Amino acid sequence: MTRENASIGREATALVMLILAVVAVSAWLRLHGAGLGCEEWPACYGRNFSHEDYRPPALARAIHRLVASLALLLTLYLAWRARTLRPRPPWAPPVFALLGLMLGLAAVGGWSHDPRNAAVNFVNLVGGLLLVPISWRVMRNAGTDAHFPHGPRSSLVVAGIAALLATVTLGAWIGASHAAVDVSAAGVALHWLHRGLAVLALLLLGQAAWRRLDARAARALLALLAVELVLGVLLVVGDFPLLIAVAHNLTAALLLAMAWQLPGQPDNPHLSPLADDKRLD
Ligand code: HEM
Repeated sequence: MTRENASIGREATALVMLILAVVAVSAWLRLHGAGLGCEEWPACYGRNFSHEDYRPPALARAIHRLVASLALLLTLYLAWRARTLRPRPPWAPPVFALLGLMLGLAAVGGWSHDPRNAAVNFVNLVGGLLLVPISWRVMRNAGTDAHFPHGPRSSLVVAGIAALLATVTLGAWIGASHAAVDVSAAGVALHWLHRGLAVLALLLLGQAAWRRLDARAARALLALLAVELVLGVLLVVGDFPLLIAVAHNLTAALLLAMAWQLPGQPDNPHLSPLADDKRLD
């Protein structure tokens, strides 16, 4: 690896860290504003929105501004470097996509400050989560110096990623529309669909990871899926503690990033990665 590639790799890793920090602080600010973990639960849920003078904690807002600005500046710098390099490096397309998404989110954020607006909350939440897999791809492509993965994904991987995306989309809608304690028939159905899809994602991605990844990556993906399910259960049985909800959000972003790394080669039914450390790619 050239010195230039090594420095891009370090910058891309720093970008992933900054974006994870942005996602975590954004989730904390939004869920704190919604009242998760407040005393007198659930009567206090959503109460802040009726107080016009509600202001999120100044320190959290300052940290959010700082890390989000640093992430945007680093992305702009990487996009500028990608534009000047010939041939175009493999990390260029995800950097351009990342910049476009960040600018789109900045525009949406400036467009509405009303925390009760579920549609805007939803777009912000899903867009913010997607920053993680895209920046992760920048880091992977910078580190391997190659386009990754190398081929079409199998139907098992596609189905697993689709189930995960559907789980995240429903979860994001529950969070964005402040339906965490919605006990109407529609609300209960939404919650059960979210849980059912989560189990389906576990089964499909678990199977895909088992067949297609090296042992360490397969274990990491399976462990992360298990952690996410446990966090979801703890959210419900623990009366929605704020930090568990933030961890649930962050783990969803990491899962999206890891699922996207599932390589695109044909399955090898004879290789059980948990028993064999050989890489397929
Ligand atoms: C693959 C597994 C799962 C994924 C990827 C996932 C993802 C998500 C996401 C992205 C959110 C929105 C978080 C936010 O508002 O910031 C969410 C919310 C939620 N999830 Fe999950 N989830 C999973 C499994 C579960 C399970 C198994 C349960 C319960 C048994 C659960 C319960 C909830 C609840 C109650 C919320 C609403 C909390 C809130 O207001 O944020 N989730 N989920």
